[in-house]
Amino acid sequence: MLKKNLEILQEKKDKALLGGGENRIAKQHEKGKLTARERVHFLMDEGSFEEIGMLVTHRSTDFGMEKQIFLGDGVITGYGTVQGRIVYVFAQDFTVFGGSLSETHAEKICKIMDLAIQNGAPVIGLNDSGGARIQEGVRSLGGYADIFYRNTLASGVIPQLSAIMGPCAGGAVYSPAITDFIMMVQDTSYMFVTGPNVVKTVTNEEVTSEELGGASAHSTKSGVTHITAVNDIDCINKLKALLSYMPQNCEEKPKAIPYEIGDEYREELSTIIPDSANQPYEMKEVIEGIVDQDSFYEIHKDYAENIVVGFARIAGKSVGIVANQPMNMAGVLDVNSSKKGARFVRFCDCFNIPLLVLVDVPGFLPGTDQEWNGIITNGAKLLYAFSEATVPRITLITRKAYGGAYDVMNSKHIGADMNFAWPSAEIAVMGAKGASEIIFRKEIKAADDPAEKLKEKEAEYADKFAHPYRAASRGFIDEVIEPRDSRRKLIKAFAMLENKVAKLPKKKHGNLPL
Ligand code: HXC
Repeated sequence: MLKKNLEILQEKKDKALLGGGENRIAKQHEKGKLTARERVHFLMDEGSFEEIGMLVTHRSTDFGMEKQIFLGDGVITGYGTVQGRIVYVFAQDFTVFGGSLSETHAEKICKIMDLAIQNGAPVIGLNDSGGARIQEGVRSLGGYADIFYRNTLASGVIPQLSAIMGPCAGGAVYSPAITDFIMMVQDTSYMFVTGPNVVKTVTNEEVTSEELGGASAHSTKSGVTHITAVNDIDCINKLKALLSYMPQNCEEKPKAIPYEIGDEYREELSTIIPDSANQPYEMKEVIEGIVDQDSFYEIHKDYAENIVVGFARIAGKSVGIVANQPMNMAGVLDVNSSKKGARFVRFCDCFNIPLLVLVDVPGFLPGTDQEWNGIITNGAKLLYAFSEATVPRITLITRKAYGGAYDVMNSKHIGADMNFAWPSAEIAVMGAKGASEIIFRKEIKAADDPAEKLKEKEAEYADKFAHPYRAASRGFIDEVIEPRDSRRKLIKAFAMLENKVAKLPKKKHGNLPL
């Protein structure tokens, strides 16, 4: 081969590696952001990344675009390994036309998505883009739709993770929105359908990009983002950790990590439940007491905090945890917590991740706000998600399991495989006080000392129902267990359910109450 041929190739590669050029790279760094290439470098195992489409260029000739050609066209695409597993990745390069999406930029993303679907491996998208390539018009919009379509086809087939590491605005938000998890970087990323200027024009509200669609807004108010990172490196580390709980695709189970027997008894679980049923306690302490050390990875940490969801490992194997949180609104179920729980349950079910449900729930939240915001439809999402899940499902009731929420929180009746309760469990239609006030109303009113009578009736009701033994006598609870023995029991029960096969009735797809 002529030496010149190799030189031409090298020259092109060098040019591509520079993206939009040194000045724009410096600007990116000044904003506290890594470049797309640096991000890919930190994400993938050393030396494993293979780029696809490095020499692709846009085809636009309007507005003098033919004179502005950047190899790669603003997105780095390819494959490699993350902790030894094949992963497909695209990283938008803000140094080239602000990472904006052209027809060819979209084609590159679609190409790796098609490969990922065909080969059953996760796709990770690192988003940093000014949106549609303004010079291209509808060709760019078409490109977006091509991606959205593939996101939808890939949903439930391969895990799709999105990191928002810069702007993500307009219709561009809908690709991450369809993916399984969205991670945002504090201070340097934002997501919104319409930005502050349009908001000002239409609603007269004055709001900054950060207030409107920064990581804080989406992690606490909208729930759009599942995880917040403090900077790019933190984001990439959190992506890798998140991926470790997932299988490659819906046909596989997550890879287990080696586990050594020896820490099954956890005495600390015995002292968590307070003496009074109205006193809160930290459900995350129960989670930590059950799962492998330091394995809990919380999702949606700052959103709808009355329910806790996240991944963990039990005896080295991935599980999804859904738990009421007595520390926040007494762990009541409301619109947002139901949506949060349902979305997480469905992800776990898609990807063969068994579910552990920890229950301490006083019921559904009453009020006009909840009713008018559709607690009926939204509560049904959680009920539906549990009911249709075919992965191994285990419930442990730590304290309250009242009313409809008892049914919803992975009860035996909706298909849970094993239902445990601690001796502190109270499984009833409602709490003893509320129940007594209703069913003994006349008797209490007629009493010489109504307050004393209420107390007496309350004690009577509690004696009958504020325990797990009625439910256990019907087989709704399989076993009442000591808190300190919970981890051992759960390890054994999950091992027993390891090869569970459950089929749903034949259907095209269900009609989840959206
Ligand atoms: C082409 C773009 C671009 C775009 C930015 N650039 N956005 N080029 N199309 N959408 C270019 C700039 O011209 C500039 O080029 C470089 O990228 C960096 O942009 P700056 O403005 O200098 O950066 P910054 O100050 O950080 O501001 C970033 C920004 C801003 C907030 C994203 O660029 C911006 O508002 N861009 C337009 C956003 C937008 O309206 N997009 C269309 C949305 S509609 P030079 O050569 O100077 O480096 C949409 C519809 C999608 O996306 C529909 C899907 C269904």
